[in-house]
Amino acid sequence: MTVDPRAATGFASAVDAYERGRPSYPPVAITNLAREFGLTPASTVLDLAAGTGKLTRRLVGLVGSVIAVDPSEAMRAELHDRLPAVDARPGTAEAIPVADGSVDAVFVGEAFHWFRTTEALHEIARVLSPGGGLALLWNRAHWSEKELPWLTAFGELLDPYRKAAGPFPAEGDDWKSALQATGAFAPLSSAEVDHVLTTTPDDLVALVSSWSWIANLPDGDRADVLGRVRELVGPQQRLTLRYRTDIHWTRLV
Ligand SMILES: C[S@@+](CC[C@H](N)C(=O)[O-])C[C@H]1O[C@@H](n2cnc3c(N)ncnc32)[C@H](O)[C@@H]1O
Repeated sequence: MTVDPRAATGFASAVDAYERGRPSYPPVAITNLAREFGLTPASTVLDLAAGTGKLTRRLVGLVGSVIAVDPSEAMRAELHDRLPAVDARPGTAEAIPVADGSVDAVFVGEAFHWFRTTEALHEIARVLSPGGGLALLWNRAHWSEKELPWLTAFGELLDPYRKAAGPFPAEGDDWKSALQATGAFAPLSSAEVDHVLTTTPDDLVALVSSWSWIANLPDGDRADVLGRVRELVGPQQRLTLRYRTDIHWTRLV
C-alpha cells in the first residue's frame, strides 16, 4: 500500500485536530447526489479516503450500506469509534479492497488530490456497478477580511509553509482531462454549495494543525506557528467560517 508520505504522517498525527477543526459537508449536497445517482436503502456506496468519517456520517442513513476505505489506521480507528456499524477497510484509491462492480456509487471527500489520478480512476471504474456514480467533493474556505480581520496576516503566516510542502500529487484541474481520457465516465457535472461553520479560536487552531503541511512540521515549529495563529485571532470569541463545497459528479458509461 503506497501513499504519499506527507499524507501518511500528516493525517496519522492529527486525528483529534481533524475531527475538531475540519468542516463537514452540507447535507443537501449529499442528498442531491444520492438522488442524482438513484441511491436507495438497498444501495451500497464506497466512501473512498474516508478519514475519520465526516462524509461517511452524511452517507449512512441514506443508503443500505457504506464501505469506508482509508490507508491511515489512526483515521480509521476514529471512524470505527464513531460509526462502529460501518465496514471500514484499510486500502488506497490505487488498490481498492472491494470486488469488481460491487458498489453503486463512490464518494471522495477532500482527498482526490492525494491520489495517483489515472490508477485511482481505473480502480473506481472497476468497483462501480454499471451506471454507478462518482462524486468528488472539496470544501473551500470562503473567508472574508470583513468577518475575519486577521485574514491577511493569517495568509502571510501560513502560505510559505503550504508552498514549502510542495504540490499535492494531483494538484490543479488536470484530473478532469485524466477522467475523460479513461473513456469510462460520462461528462462531468459540477456545482457549488455554501455552508457556514460557527466556531471558536481553538477550533481554528485545530483546523490549522490538521493541515498535513502543518501537521508534518517539527514539533517546535508547529507549536510556534499555532501559537501565532492563536495570537492573531486575538479576543474574537466566535468565528464565522464560510465554506463553499465544490462538487463534481459523473457516472460510469
Ligand atoms: C483530508 S482527509 C479527508 C478525509 C475524509 N474524506 C473527510 O472528508 O473528512 C484525506 C484522507 O485521504 C487519505 N488518503 C491519502 N492518500 C490516499 C490514497 N492514495 N488512497 C486513499 N486514501 C488516501 C488520508 O489517509 C486521509 O484520511
